[in-house]
Amino acid sequence: MEKHNDHNLGFGLGLRTDHFEEVLQGQPDVDWFEVISENFMVGGGKPLYYLQAIREQYPIVMHGVSMSLGSTDPLDMDYLKRLKHLVDEVKPSWISDHLCWSQLGGINSHDLLPMPYTEEALHHIVSNIRQAQDFLGQQMLIENVSSYISYSESAMTEWEFYSAVVEEADCLMLLDINNIYVSARNHHFDAERYLKGINPKRVRQMHLAGHSDYGDYIIDTHDHPVVDSVWQLYAKAIERFGPVSTMIERDDDIPALDELIAELDQARAISARVLAGEKKAGVAHG
Ligand SMILES: [Fe+2]
Repeated sequence: MEKHNDHNLGFGLGLRTDHFEEVLQGQPDVDWFEVISENFMVGGGKPLYYLQAIREQYPIVMHGVSMSLGSTDPLDMDYLKRLKHLVDEVKPSWISDHLCWSQLGGINSHDLLPMPYTEEALHHIVSNIRQAQDFLGQQMLIENVSSYISYSESAMTEWEFYSAVVEEADCLMLLDINNIYVSARNHHFDAERYLKGINPKRVRQMHLAGHSDYGDYIIDTHDHPVVDSVWQLYAKAIERFGPVSTMIERDDDIPALDELIAELDQARAISARVLAGEKKAGVAHG
């Protein structure tokens, strides 16, 4: 199975339909793009044309939302075959999906639902990730989801469960900093404790996104700029994990590309500031 070596792609954006033409013609100052795999899992068509043309100019990573790795339903082999076909065409730097379940009894909720943090659920999702990785012939990145519910059966914290999953499945982490912040507020845990519980060697990519704050609870809407508290948590993450491929995830109310690039420049500046401070102090990562 192909393993991804240490590989920092720099600062990327989610590739969205609204920006296809501008990206292709203008070649903006973005280091790489992430695409939602399912949007391109069709034979031919305009999206695939743009993806192939943009792929010639930028590294691409593929992010899936439908693998439902934690479900008690068997893995959807037809989905995996179609995904593999796209992987063979696009040759992304890596593939990711989520630490969640979406489907039960063949019915897809289209939500990324959290797992119960139990030994039984752990063994189950590990076996599915291993099966998916074997089929795809490469290590996958698994992303933490934001959550609004928890299970009374849970016997460990989310970060303990997530860490055990990646060690036992020998996969990597796509750490969503906004999702950690959202879940920490919703479930009243310490977001920095979460970061401290994560093995830096497993972190290969980070997501940053905006959310909607309703005071008592937060919803992960991806339709706002990144908020200050999430930038602060991102600085802590860079401090702990060192330079990691980072991107802004915007899925709704999509602004002009320049606006997203300005937001990405904030990530570049924070990362550079933290790393420069550490260089002075002689801090090493790994
Ligand atoms: Fe994310």
